[in-house]
Amino acid sequence: MDYAISTEEFERFRRLIYDESGISLGEQKRSLLASRLSKRLRDLGFATFSEYYNRLMEDPASDEFTRMLDLISTNKTDFFREPKHFEFLRDRILPELAKAKQIRIWSSACSSGEEPYTIAMTLYDSVQNPSEWDFKILASDLSTRVLARAASGVYDEERVRDVPPEVVKRHFLRGRGSSVGNIKIKPHLGQIIRFRRLNLMDDHYPIKSPLDLIFCRNVMIYFDRPTQERLVNKFHRYLKPGGYLFIGHSESLQWVKHPFKALAPTIYQKER
Ligand SMILES: C[S@@+](CC[C@H](N)C(=O)[O-])C[C@H]1O[C@@H](n2cnc3c(N)ncnc32)[C@H](O)[C@@H]1O
Repeated sequence: MDYAISTEEFERFRRLIYDESGISLGEQKRSLLASRLSKRLRDLGFATFSEYYNRLMEDPASDEFTRMLDLISTNKTDFFREPKHFEFLRDRILPELAKAKQIRIWSSACSSGEEPYTIAMTLYDSVQNPSEWDFKILASDLSTRVLARAASGVYDEERVRDVPPEVVKRHFLRGRGSSVGNIKIKPHLGQIIRFRRLNLMDDHYPIKSPLDLIFCRNVMIYFDRPTQERLVNKFHRYLKPGGYLFIGHSESLQWVKHPFKALAPTIYQKER
């Protein structure tokens, strides 16, 4: 059974979550919030949302705070989700960089890792001599729980059901013995990815060299328009001239002021 949440309690949680993660919860998300946090209240022995709130406010830098945000965020993802972006990477971006043989990519809301591993597979499978290339992918998320899964590189076999078998063979190891039913990413993919926790709401990101491509897919949908605008303009600063930004297919920058050139509904380019 879910705990009851008063209007005032909902407002306080809503404000806290917005300030910390940019996630904007409308009034219609009240029961969703109550149901996602109820188990946590029960486990911690709290009787009301106010008690839990007070505990969170005691130390906003605590693990409990991260845990609460983990419970709120939606982590749905897939290998080769929205495949047009990977085709664009293969057909347009990589040929443009063929001389330099270097690419820097940021998967900025990477969830459990399917997105950065798909990027890595695309890189290896699209160029002639991958060993001659310098590939680097930064994969980040707010949630430490999903990041831990991502870094482990272990998935249920079901997750690659729709991935072509030859791709699975090249890039995954099938579990044996007690690991039957699991698959694991091969080391060559893991080697080019660095996972770290990073909040998109931060004013600055710990990224020193300019990027060729930023993936920011299926997270902006949870942000309000001013937050989206700030974010997209920040991304612009971290891209090389001519660099690209991919957003999710259900997202749009139509109402957001930004300096990018729109190449397709979800593909943007910084001026050269
Ligand atoms: C629905 S998943 C999208 C995963 C992947 N990009 C995709 O399209 O398949 C959204 C992710 O955004 C993350 N997220 C939410 N707010 C964030 C923030 N402020 N900073 C970084 N990541 C955030 C969530 O933890 C979640 O893993």
